[in-house]
Amino acid sequence: MKLLILTICALHVNQMMASKDCVVVNGKNYEKEVLKDNIHQAYQLSFDPQQNTLFFSYSDEVDSKTVLKMGYLNLATKSFGEISGVKDGMATAVDTTNHIVYLGGKDGIYTYDYATKSVKNLGVTSLSIWQMFYCPIHGLFFTTSDEKPYVFKDGQVKQIVEASSSKTRVMAVGEHHDVFFANSSGIFLFNHHTNKVVDLGDYNVNAFTKDSKGKLYFSSPVGFYAVNEADRKMNKLISETGEDSIWGAAFDKDDNIVYSNEDNIVKLVPKDKC
Ligand SMILES: *[C@@H]1O[C@H](CO)[C@@H](O)[C@H](O)[C@H]1NC(C)=O
Repeated sequence: MKLLILTICALHVNQMMASKDCVVVNGKNYEKEVLKDNIHQAYQLSFDPQQNTLFFSYSDEVDSKTVLKMGYLNLATKSFGEISGVKDGMATAVDTTNHIVYLGGKDGIYTYDYATKSVKNLGVTSLSIWQMFYCPIHGLFFTTSDEKPYVFKDGQVKQIVEASSSKTRVMAVGEHHDVFFANSSGIFLFNHHTNKVVDLGDYNVNAFTKDSKGKLYFSSPVGFYAVNEADRKMNKLISETGEDSIWGAAFDKDDNIVYSNEDNIVKLVPKDKC
């Protein structure tokens, strides 16, 4: 009898472990593969397909104080490194057309140099950057710590006046080049043609990201969503809360979802069964 109970318990534990590492997205099975552990609250992930490298900010303890750092993770070799030199670095974005990695900190926009693993402040703005998103048509969008939207193109930084009367915490561009932004009230679409702002619902957006086709997604403390631009509906793909809550996400070169939670950077690997 004791043995039977033990066996049942063991089976139960096994099943729980399997289900914890397994995620169903749009009816397909994926297994969570930890790419990097012991990385706290990795935020604002962007992926550079040319170098197979992920960029992000994260928090670390230095002399028992929490500090913000920037880092990279090569997805092929899993080699991780800290990027120093960006003051209070927070934001990342990649221009895949011209192959430029942008990093944003308290005193403006920097570029990253793979050869020297160093950064350079472009000197185009001294604004405190919160978030960035690169669009091949419009340029490098960014928001500041005081929640104002800007765009950097052809060496010029311009404030986006149309959307700046209200707060803009994070912003992104969809597959039809519409501008999406989010603040503490929810997620909004800015329509260039009508100059109107459309309310898309009360979602708490942590970060936007796009896949290789330019389709837009976002993470929130309760899950990961796809933005359906045709019907302007948000389609919840992954539900995660608490310790597993998704801080940020990006798509790798095979369009696998790579995301960060409290302590890990994880990749969802397609599986027939898991
Ligand atoms: C967020 O943006 C919307 C749309 O512009 C605006 O109506 C709302 O007041 C903003 N929320 C905050 C907290 O600024």
